[in-house]
Amino acid sequence: MKINDIIFKKLVKRGYSIKGDNKSWDVSDSKLWYLTPELSKGFLNLKKYLPYRIKVFDTEFTLIEKNAEKFREVCDADAFNLIDLGCGDGTKAEAFIKILSKNSKIRYCPVDVSQYFIDQAIARVKDLNYENVAGIKPFLTDFKDLDDIIGIVRNSEYRRNVILLLGETISTYEVNDLLYHLSDPLWKDDVLIVGNGYKVGDRFVELGKYRDSLFNDWFIHIVKGLGFNDNEVKIDARFANGRLEWFYTLEVDKTIFHMDKTVNFKKGDEIVVAIQYKFYENEWREFYELYFADVELLKDEDKEYAIAICKK
Ligand SMILES: C[S@@+](CC[C@H](N)C(=O)[O-])C[C@H]1O[C@@H](n2cnc3c(N)ncnc32)[C@H](O)[C@@H]1O
Repeated sequence: MKINDIIFKKLVKRGYSIKGDNKSWDVSDSKLWYLTPELSKGFLNLKKYLPYRIKVFDTEFTLIEKNAEKFREVCDADAFNLIDLGCGDGTKAEAFIKILSKNSKIRYCPVDVSQYFIDQAIARVKDLNYENVAGIKPFLTDFKDLDDIIGIVRNSEYRRNVILLLGETISTYEVNDLLYHLSDPLWKDDVLIVGNGYKVGDRFVELGKYRDSLFNDWFIHIVKGLGFNDNEVKIDARFANGRLEWFYTLEVDKTIFHMDKTVNFKKGDEIVVAIQYKFYENEWREFYELYFADVELLKDEDKEYAIAICKK
């Protein structure tokens, strides 16, 4: 089986912690979830999963449409870069471009670690053929490099930047670290727009919905990238370490030799592949207000999702 260098390097770099008689390995980095076209397609399959479709996907679209007037007020300027961090297939950018004024001059800048997604987002925005899209400038890179991206796209014609971080991407990262990276290069006129689910009631509930087979269909490609077969691992989800974790338990002993390194896995060892943080509204507000002077939360009716508009 072909081992993926990037996933293997992550495993070796992060190492393991001891858990009873076994090891717990951690390769949870949401960048890895989209590393190959199979992984990227795994994410797109989420759209067919009703809890995600209703709570995240459809809710975000509704919020964009419902607050169209507000977004026009915040975004519209003579000319601006629409920097779509973690652009996915570009459906959210499409929704934004549709509600913005036909008179604005938008340069669409999709940013993603996945070429597969960049291509999809560009094709989608090109197909739109909207007169307010004046250009497209993609970046195949980590969105934590926003500093460099803005350094390239800010010029006398496109001084302002409207930055999208939609689809709950933020909650798969350490929030303070990410907000620090994203706020630092912004100027007063720039705006960061973040869409994420908000916890109401008990923080850690409904584990069952994270055990759907769809998550295995997606994340199995991460452990396959480490040299395991389907029948050598078993997925589960749990709340641990203050977050939701998806992990595989190994059902066999296995030795992997790759890049001049040998890693010995034992039956019962676990590999954490994915995480998501869950925060309440007041906690999200506190995070944003640490980095931005002006924060507005546009909430959905049941207050379980919000789009935050953040300015320095
Ligand atoms: C949860 S999806 C959201 C996609 C889209 N924004 C939406 O709302 O449907 C996360 C996206 O961010 C990308 N991504 C995740 N981490 C990234 C990183 N560090 N740098 C660049 N892209 C990243 C993924 O490839 C994926 O397209």
